Amino acid sequence: MQFFLDSANLEEIKSAWEMGIISGVTTNPSLVAKENERDLPSLLTEITRIVDGPISAEVIALDYPGMVREAQELASIHSNIVIKIPQSVDGLKAVKTLAGQGIKTNMTLIFTPIQALLAARAGATYVSPFLGRLDDIGEIGLNLLNDICEIFTVHNLQCAIIAASIRNPIHVLEAAKAGADFATVPFKVLNQLVNHPLTTAGIEKFLKDWQKISAN
Ligand code: E4P
Repeated sequence: MQFFLDSANLEEIKSAWEMGIISGVTTNPSLVAKENERDLPSLLTEITRIVDGPISAEVIALDYPGMVREAQELASIHSNIVIKIPQSVDGLKAVKTLAGQGIKTNMTLIFTPIQALLAARAGATYVSPFLGRLDDIGEIGLNLLNDICEIFTVHNLQCAIIAASIRNPIHVLEAAKAGADFATVPFKVLNQLVNHPLTTAGIEKFLKDWQKISAN
C-alpha cells in the first residue's frame, strides 16, 4: 500500500513529501476552503512544484458537461493532476468521457461496494471509499473496503483503490491488510503513524547511556 497525503496545506505537503513516504496528494473542496484559497489552479500548480506524483483535485460542477469542462481545465495544469468526480449518473458519464481522453479520474464519495464496481466499469483510474464517514454514522467503514478489495480481485479490475476518510492509525493498518492500493491520510494521522512511546523512550535511553560513556 502506498500513501497519499489528504491535505491542501502547502507546509504539510512539503513536510510529508520530504519525509519520503507519500506518493501523491488528494484534495477536496473542503480541504481547499480550509486554506482560504479561492484560486484552485494556482494552488494546484504550487502542489505540482512540491510533489512528483498523482494530485487529486475535485470538480465543483454536478452536471456532465460542467464536470467534463472543469476536468479538462484542471487536467491542463499538469500531467499529474487526477480529476476527482463524485459518484452519480452524470459523474459516471464524465468518468467514461475523460477516460476516453486519457484524463485520469478518482471517483469519490464511494459508500457501497457496487458504487465502486460501477466506477471501475466506467473507466475510473481510482476509487475512494470513505471509511471514517461510515464509522461516523455507526456503520463499519472497513467492511466497505474489504468488500471492494475482494470484488476488484475476483474480477481482476485494474482500477486502484484509495482508502479515504482515514481518521486513525487502525484505519491505516486495516487498509494495508485488506489490500488497498493507497491510503490517503491526514497530516496528523501520518505523524501518529511515525511515533511510538517505546521508540521515544528507546532513543532517550540510548542517548543517556552514551552520555555516561562519553563523560568518562
Ligand atoms: C479524500 O479523498 C477524501 O476527500 C477525504 O479523505 C475525506 O475525508 P473526511 O471524511 O475526513 O472529510
